[in-house]
Amino acid sequence: MTEEQYTLGYGEGAMQWMTSRTADKFGAFVLPWLKPGMRLLDCGCGPGTLTLGFASHVAPGATIGIDRESSQFAASAARAQQEGITNLSFTTGDIYTLPYADASFDVCFASAVLGSVAEPERVVAEMSRVLQPGGILALKEFDHGGDIIYPQTPVLERSTELYHRLRAHNGHEPCGGRRLRGLLHEAGCNVEFTRGYFDQHYGADDLRAHVDRNNLLIDEMLAQQYIELGWCSEAEIEEAARAWEEFAQNPAAVWLSAWFEAIGVKQ
Ligand SMILES: C[S@@+](CC[C@H](N)C(=O)[O-])C[C@H]1O[C@@H](n2cnc3c(N)ncnc32)[C@H](O)[C@@H]1O
Repeated sequence: MTEEQYTLGYGEGAMQWMTSRTADKFGAFVLPWLKPGMRLLDCGCGPGTLTLGFASHVAPGATIGIDRESSQFAASAARAQQEGITNLSFTTGDIYTLPYADASFDVCFASAVLGSVAEPERVVAEMSRVLQPGGILALKEFDHGGDIIYPQTPVLERSTELYHRLRAHNGHEPCGGRRLRGLLHEAGCNVEFTRGYFDQHYGADDLRAHVDRNNLLIDEMLAQQYIELGWCSEAEIEEAARAWEEFAQNPAAVWLSAWFEAIGVKQ
């Protein structure tokens, strides 16, 4: 397995982010391209809620989720069993060296993965290798360079800057979304679709849930790393937590996260 530091980790905070994603909403851009019988690979599938959703669109075609951390698969695998979904499986593996022959799949998908690896171009080339000619390479990635947090304060600005700095420190691109078209092109695909959009959070309940997930992630995974790297103190972490709390309670507040989606067809 490739040795790379994965910034988000696998705690409850990270799981809450990922499991809130469904194929019908978060993966909707892929659905018009899916047909029954297609073989689909979800690279860096995490807890696999997107993979699970795609499975019913390509059934009876095989749908496989692959990720380096298998502890995440249990809930989606159990749900598939309960719902009688038999074309879905999960496997542990490295997306830099996929354990499949050339041209094994009709669709290769990766969401929120290319910003979590040091060499996204190698991963996309590997995804392209396992696709058959005419196959679909579907990518989705955040781009923190486009995020809007309003009203911004120096404390909130510093809190988000630390997060972006940690991603960069771990060798990962915080603004990877804008690279998707280029990555598809380099991997020998015709780019057939591109969209940038905001994942939008505002209003008391939605903003509260978003800020709570963020704070949990900082508590569980990020704060310790910032402190060990000497980038901030315990007191600054507490100050930031208070600032996020005020933000969550502000009826004027909006938090928009920028994402890109792109579809390529392999030549
Ligand atoms: C941010 S999560 C995204 C999960 C899911 N695709 C989603 O959108 O909810 C990134 C995932 O990529 C996985 N990952 C990172 N590097 C990997 C590698 N080299 N091989 C396999 N999985 C990897 C991580 O374990 C993590 O589950």
